[in-house]
Amino acid sequence: MENKLFTPVRIGGLSIRNRFVRSATHEGLADENGFYTERLSGVLTLLAEHEVGLIISGHAFVSPEGRASALQASAATDDAIPGWRETVERVHARGAKIALQLAHAGGNTAVPGAAGPSAFAQAPGKKECRALTPDEIRNLKTAFAAAACRARRAGFDAVQIHAAHGYLLSQFLSPYYNRRTDDYGGTLSGRARMVYEVYDAVRNAVGEDYPVLIKINSEDFVPDGFSQEECREVCRELERRGLNGVELSGGIPPAGAALSPVRVQDTADGDKVYYEDAARQLKAVLRIPVVLVGGVRHPAKALSLIESGTCDMISLSRPLIREPGLLSRWLAGDGTRAACVSCNACFRPIVTGRGFSCPRERK
Ligand SMILES: Cc1cc2nc3c(=O)[nH]c(=O)nc-3n(C[C@H](O)[C@H](O)[C@H](O)COP(=O)(O)O)c2cc1C
Repeated sequence: MENKLFTPVRIGGLSIRNRFVRSATHEGLADENGFYTERLSGVLTLLAEHEVGLIISGHAFVSPEGRASALQASAATDDAIPGWRETVERVHARGAKIALQLAHAGGNTAVPGAAGPSAFAQAPGKKECRALTPDEIRNLKTAFAAAACRARRAGFDAVQIHAAHGYLLSQFLSPYYNRRTDDYGGTLSGRARMVYEVYDAVRNAVGEDYPVLIKINSEDFVPDGFSQEECREVCRELERRGLNGVELSGGIPPAGAALSPVRVQDTADGDKVYYEDAARQLKAVLRIPVVLVGGVRHPAKALSLIESGTCDMISLSRPLIREPGLLSRWLAGDGTRAACVSCNACFRPIVTGRGFSCPRERK
């Protein structure tokens, strides 16, 4: 019997061999300039070898002040292109597609002078960022557009705009962070203006035919946060403007560990995955593909999410750190769950400069 998980799907004009996405995962393996290293390229190549349909790169900063951490990949200058090109070629040779995730951390960066939509501190006791000026907002849109152009020139099949998890664009969307009183704050149309204008700038830069995706929060999971209803409205407007696909996530740092995008909560067979209800409701109002991330560990669950029409594609992050070969295993008919138990130990080696890895990984 044909397994629908391994049937092709289209995002815009892009044909993808199956329903699996490697969700953007900061590898902590770029060099100090933010350029791709042989090790980083090897990680992405291995995922392509093991049946991932669409690989989304770890978040790449579109301008230096938006850098979230050391050893993060850069999309801020043309110098990144040669390293990308080699990786893209290797990935394509193994039958996978690859998208670059475009990101800016906004008030959530460690750099001096960090700025977001408004002044806020990411956590009690942390330094407050300042509010972006109108000129800076204009420059940011240009930076996203320029980075998207670079991605296209390097051969990436698509770009994904990172508007989730409390990074810059998620900060604009969220009433929790965004207290602006100008055109970029206030009602949803004001808070979403930055996302719409970044999308339009990217679209103008890459052309009509190039797939542009967004990763967005289903909700922030804080009082006064971005809500599910608002998410649906923003996605509908982006679809009207020509967006090609949505990856649905959720949570911002003040939501706490239990409701963060990387929950330390293992899902058993049959459990709902993190944003399942929100995905079903979003899918009901969109025509473009919906990609669902967060907590998927069981192939039977992945299949039921696709067969029930909850989403069009399944996105995985931590399971593919522990088992880069997971999808080869599932394709070969092994129906046992991913070995990942969602413990987040994969972050620890990033912090110490060694790049992501799972201490429990099957060698
Ligand atoms: C080590 C690590 C790095 C991550 N980096 C990113 C990133 O660069 N961009 C992003 O949108 N999400 C990032 N995430 C979140 C994942 O894409 C995903 O949304 C989350 O881990 C939930 O999926 P999972 O349960 O399959 O791990 C990261 C997650 C992990 C574990």
